[in-house]
Amino acid sequence: MSARIIRGRLLSFRDDPRLAGADAWRLIDDGAILVENGAIAMVGEASVILKSAPPGAPIDDHRGKLVLPGFIDAHIHYPQTRVIGSYGAQLLDWLNKYTFVEEQRFVDPAHSAVVARFFLDELFRQGTTTACVYCTVHPASVEAFFVEAERRGARMIAGKAMMDRNAPPALRDTAQSGYDESKALIARWRGRGRLDYAITPRFAVTSTEAQLEAAGALLRENPQAYLQTHLDENLAEIELVKRLFPGSKTYLGVYERFGLLGPRSIFGHCIHLEESELASLARSRSVAAFCPTSNLFLGSGLFDKQRLDEAGARVALATDVGGGTSYSMLATAAEGYKVLQMNGQSWPALQAFHQMTLGNARALSLDGRIGRIEPGYEADLVVLDSRATPAMAHRMESHDGDLEEELFALIMMGDDRAVTQTYVAGVGVKR
Ligand code: GUN
Ligand code: ZN
Repeated sequence: MSARIIRGRLLSFRDDPRLAGADAWRLIDDGAILVENGAIAMVGEASVILKSAPPGAPIDDHRGKLVLPGFIDAHIHYPQTRVIGSYGAQLLDWLNKYTFVEEQRFVDPAHSAVVARFFLDELFRQGTTTACVYCTVHPASVEAFFVEAERRGARMIAGKAMMDRNAPPALRDTAQSGYDESKALIARWRGRGRLDYAITPRFAVTSTEAQLEAAGALLRENPQAYLQTHLDENLAEIELVKRLFPGSKTYLGVYERFGLLGPRSIFGHCIHLEESELASLARSRSVAAFCPTSNLFLGSGLFDKQRLDEAGARVALATDVGGGTSYSMLATAAEGYKVLQMNGQSWPALQAFHQMTLGNARALSLDGRIGRIEPGYEADLVVLDSRATPAMAHRMESHDGDLEEELFALIMMGDDRAVTQTYVAGVGVKR
């Protein structure tokens, strides 16, 4: 049996501070976690854990640093690592000019493997241990991603993009081949170890009715699988969807008609929601993924978190790399805060840290496995240094010990440099 002790300032949430206040979280200033076989066996004061741990268990000493559950990214595109930061276009032009060109390379399993390796290295460097990932239309891209994630023992969700129109021929499947390939990938990867599958009709623009029908059939046949797609990101996109689907009153109505809504469905962006769409999202327990760096970069619009919260809709936070401009969930939360400020809303740091950890775990229905530092949970952790750069250390000199202030500064100034270590199933993976 492999055992390890991880010592530091443990911060974990048991609920959303927006709803549960001070009962929502717990900080142990000199705490320790006993990890056995990839899972958390004991948590508590270091003095207690050190006494009861198996003799000889190695101790990773992060005293003074914050230890949290690993970050979770609810929407990201692994084939866009070489598209990130591409100049000067809004969504539809950006897809055609950059993304649909780059994604064609993933027909090659060797290329897919190289990028999958880079991608997972980068997530771990940033403290992200779980992500909900878009692959390309090519089954080889999905295969490469899952092989690499499995090799690393990481909890990951991913799926093959289904797209049978309005894309270059080399990026198109058909309603039938998209169904068959997704079905085979689900059979191979869904629920295997720590992996799960997301049925991935890219967005209504690139799927025919027949393909959305096939996606609905896959979801009915595999109720434990996820579904991910894009919704109401950009005004020109919405107009195009309405032209392509004249039979549906709203964009979400298209997905609804094919049975794609539900508690395991994650809709990226959700910026320009009509009232009836908001009501449908909430009623179906679907999840809206807030992607602030992407929404600013592509000029898509400002996510209205308060409106979704008040409607009782479920919300997740995500980078959306490569429309998003950072892999860092800290940087993503910082931009999220600014987006909300533009709408006269706010986002206390404790709520933002809850969102990056337990909140996103709940959004992905994984809150019994990840997102908390509690016995029985998987030992995916991030260690954060609030004084990682000279400017952060300088900022923290005026800090009087208030946790919220420290967390807020970490969000605003932190990035991969603030991530001292990342643990996946109890193993340090940040090189
Ligand atoms: N809508 C359809 N595909 C994409 C994509 O790759 N990125 C973003 N941001 N929006 C999309
Ligand atoms: Zn996206």
